[in-house]
Amino acid sequence: MLKIAPSILAADFTALGRDIADVERGGADWLHFDVMDGRFVPNISIGLPVTAAVRRATKLFLDVHLMILEPVRYAARFCDAGADMVSFHVEADAAEGIAQAIADVRSRGKKAGIALKPGTPASAAEPWIRLVDMVLVMTVEPGFGGQKFMEDMLPKIREVRGMIDRMNPGCILETDGGIDTNTAPLVAEAGCTMAVAGSAVFRCADRAGAIRALRESAGNKEA
Ligand code: DX5
Ligand code: ZN
Repeated sequence: MLKIAPSILAADFTALGRDIADVERGGADWLHFDVMDGRFVPNISIGLPVTAAVRRATKLFLDVHLMILEPVRYAARFCDAGADMVSFHVEADAAEGIAQAIADVRSRGKKAGIALKPGTPASAAEPWIRLVDMVLVMTVEPGFGGQKFMEDMLPKIREVRGMIDRMNPGCILETDGGIDTNTAPLVAEAGCTMAVAGSAVFRCADRAGAIRALRESAGNKEA
């Protein structure tokens, strides 16, 4: 079954508590939290104080996606602020930095993930798959919500699914960007088990209905 992680990037920041309560009641599986530094991506979003506030507001599993350079600098602090999962872009530092970031998260008893930009091949995930709880495949260029799903990412999702099945079957495969009721079935069929959805959930008045529609569009089938 495809699980759904609404991304608060598309929420109403003047009513964030209300919007989070809405998706929690509406059956969201996780809550996705996008951190941008204006360097790794050309946008700045939200950071540590908002993580801590969101942690106080919800029991949902908090999935923090760091789109920042040298994420090892902040890995532990996002855990301490209340993240349950922290994901790092493999493009954001040398391998030693990413390895240290994963170790920092794991040593705090939290889950760690790696993320791939659209231009990064599936093979870049291979050295990390045994060490992480999740691989996040971007299906838009990171930096902004509301972009068009990149269908040419589907072969990469299939390739990552194959690597996960061989090397670490418990690892979650998440896709992020442009997920709606047309594209959720495509990523589910390609082997994604957790879909991030910003606009498709928060830009609807009926968030519970939007979450249900996404799941149903994917046929609720096992990936
Ligand atoms: C983009 C973020 C996404 C974004 C997805 O850089 O990583 O999580 O919020 O938004 P939608 O679902 O609107 O494409
Ligand atoms: Zn994201």
